[in-house]
Amino acid sequence: MTTKAQSTTSDPNMGLIADHLWAYGRTRALHAATELGLFDALTAGPLSAAALAKALRSTERGVRMLGDALCALSLLEKSKGGYALNATSRAFLVSTSPGYMGPMILHTRLHDHAWANLAETVRTGKPTQTVDLESGGREFFPKLVASIFAPSFGASTLARTALAPRIQEKVVDVLDVAGGSGAWSMPWAIANPAVRVTLLDYEEVFPVAREFADRFGVADRFAYKAGNLRKVGFGRAKFDLVLLGHICHSEGRNWSEKLIRKSAEALRPGGVLVIGEFIPNDSRTGPINAQLFGLNMLVNTAEGDVFTLPEYRAWMKQAGLSNIRKLDLGASGPDIVVGVKKG
Ligand SMILES: C[S@@+](CC[C@H](N)C(=O)[O-])C[C@H]1O[C@@H](n2cnc3c(N)ncnc32)[C@H](O)[C@@H]1O
Repeated sequence: MTTKAQSTTSDPNMGLIADHLWAYGRTRALHAATELGLFDALTAGPLSAAALAKALRSTERGVRMLGDALCALSLLEKSKGGYALNATSRAFLVSTSPGYMGPMILHTRLHDHAWANLAETVRTGKPTQTVDLESGGREFFPKLVASIFAPSFGASTLARTALAPRIQEKVVDVLDVAGGSGAWSMPWAIANPAVRVTLLDYEEVFPVAREFADRFGVADRFAYKAGNLRKVGFGRAKFDLVLLGHICHSEGRNWSEKLIRKSAEALRPGGVLVIGEFIPNDSRTGPINAQLFGLNMLVNTAEGDVFTLPEYRAWMKQAGLSNIRKLDLGASGPDIVVGVKKG
C-alpha cells in the first residue's frame, strides 16, 4: 500500500502530516478487530456488516465502520457476500493459522503508557520502564515471549532454509541466547532429530519454552541454562550454531558488542552466528519500522537501540567471524545477519 507518508516529493506535503497524525488509528483498528475476533468470524466465508455484527455481538454501525477501515488498510476485501479475508489476514490474523500474530498485536498495548511519555523520555533520557535491566526484564519478558513466538519462529525458519544445506547439516549443538519461547532454535530441532539445544535465559520464561517444545515434540532435546546473559559464560568452542534472536536491540551498543564476542567464542570453528534484528539503513533514515522500533527501545530500555549492518559487521569481524552477510529474505522479510567462525 502506498501512502502519502511515502511520497518523495520535495514540495511541502500536508497529507504526510495527516498520515502520521492518524497513524495510531491503524494500530487501534488492528487491536479492536483482533480483540473482537473479527478475522476469525470470516474464516467460513464473507459476511455482510449485519451478519458480522451478529457474530461479534456488536453494533452494525460499529462493525461496518471498522470493516470499511480494515478494507482501506488492505486487511479485508469486499466481495459480493460482504467483508472477506485477504491473503494477509488469512495468513497472520486468523487464530488457527500457524503464523497468527494476534498475541503480539494485543501485547503491543502494554507499550501505550511508555509511548505516551515519549517527549518526556527524549527530554530527560529516562525511559518509562527498563526491560534491559534484570529488575524490569524478569517481570516483563515472560509476558512478551509467547506473544512473539509466531513471528520469531517464522523468521528463524526462513533463516534456516536460506542457509546452504551443507551448513544446515553440520549443526548439532545449538545455543539459543535469550531464547525466550525457543522460537529461534525450535525450527532447527524440528528439522533435524540430531540437534540438541541449550536455551539461555531468565528462568521465568522457561515454562513458555517447555510448552512449545512439548507441542513440537522436541522437549527431550532442550536443556535450560538460567541466568543473566551479561554474567553467565557461554563456554568455548562448544556449539555449531549460536542464535541471538531479538536481543541486541534491548541490550544496547556496549552489551551487544560483548554479546557477539561471547557468542563467537562459544562457536566451534566453522560454526555459525545468526542474529535476528530490526536493521535501519546505513544513514538511519529508514525503513520506518526499524526507526520506530528504535524509539520503542528509547521508551522501554536504558540503553537499547537499533544498529546498522556496518555496525554488526564490524562487531562480528572483530569477534573473529567471516563471511558476514544479511540474508536475502525479500523486501518484507525479517532482518537476519549471519557470520561464520573462522576455521
Ligand atoms: C525480545 S525477547 C526475544 C525472545 C526470543 N529470542 C525471540 O526472539 O522470540 C528477549 C529475551 O531475552 C531475555 N533476556 C533479556 N535480558 C536478559 C538477560 N540480561 N539475561 C538473560 N535473558 C535476558 C528475555 O527474558 C527474553 O526471553
